[in-house]
Amino acid sequence: MTKDELYTFFHDSGIVPVVKIDDAEKAVPLAKAMIDGGINSAEITFRTAAAEEAIRKVTAAFPKMVVGAGTVINPQLAEKAVAAGAKFIVSAGFNKDTVAWCLSHNIPVVPGVCTPSEIEMGLSMGLNVLKFFPAEASGGVAMLKDLSGPFSQVRFMTTGGINPNNLPDYAKASNVLAIGGSWMVKADLIENENWEEITRLCKEATVKLQGIQLAHVGINLPDADAAAGVADEFAKLGLEIKNGNSSIFMNKEIEVMKKNYLGKNGHLAFRCYDLERTAYFLKNKGFTINEETVSYDAKGRMKVFYVNEEIGGFAVHFIK
Ligand code: 3PG
Repeated sequence: MTKDELYTFFHDSGIVPVVKIDDAEKAVPLAKAMIDGGINSAEITFRTAAAEEAIRKVTAAFPKMVVGAGTVINPQLAEKAVAAGAKFIVSAGFNKDTVAWCLSHNIPVVPGVCTPSEIEMGLSMGLNVLKFFPAEASGGVAMLKDLSGPFSQVRFMTTGGINPNNLPDYAKASNVLAIGGSWMVKADLIENENWEEITRLCKEATVKLQGIQLAHVGINLPDADAAAGVADEFAKLGLEIKNGNSSIFMNKEIEVMKKNYLGKNGHLAFRCYDLERTAYFLKNKGFTINEETVSYDAKGRMKVFYVNEEIGGFAVHFIK
């Protein structure tokens, strides 16, 4: 995986759990619980003596899982972590020596920053992906928004104080590459081998990351006249009618198609925060993207896509 592929993976998967593990024997069942919950990455922190062995065991058991090392405070630890199989290096603070070692060994490194000066240190070493830590205590999404002004080229992996309640705020922030945290892999859950709860919390996190909400229902009609007739019926209910090229919208929530479009019974449109992330999420659930329906905005970001699978006879599409 190249650095750019890793960043794309971070963005699309969106969540990187921060793991502190005391017993390396628990690392493989822990990783399995996370994978079962739809999360395929982990930052295993060097806050315990078991970290190195845990990285070794997880990368051996799940070669496709993207495992990195966290709390790497010097180049020696980075070297150890990489030898154990870590695919990226994370630190809470900014250590020039660690960053330099990783760069010279072609290892993706995400050092922690929480001030403009530290961000500039990162930029001066060629890094435009940085860890924003401790996120909540340093100002959270308000701070991230302010940082996006002078540092529009920087994207952040945010950790520290994030939980299922404030996760959607981070998911909506345009300069957040991925969200990290320990809430779904708390030490006591690992200690008590509560794998089911870890899987549940991982699933919950991946769902909250999407912000999927029904936007409108689409009704298929064979032609424009038939569509106009149906629109007249809805108009009797007092719905606001907006006539478009291929369909008529009523109150934004009902779309009457002027021809039989996708879906046996019509279509359901869902809004989400980020279409690339939701595409990744849906693929993990067994859906496939209908490539012919994907369209992109001026920045090359997905604007709309359908999945190939219908639900209850409805075609399903996603919009931002
Ligand atoms: C980290 O190192 O990123 C943090 O310990 C994770 O923060 P959290 O425990 O508040 O989620």
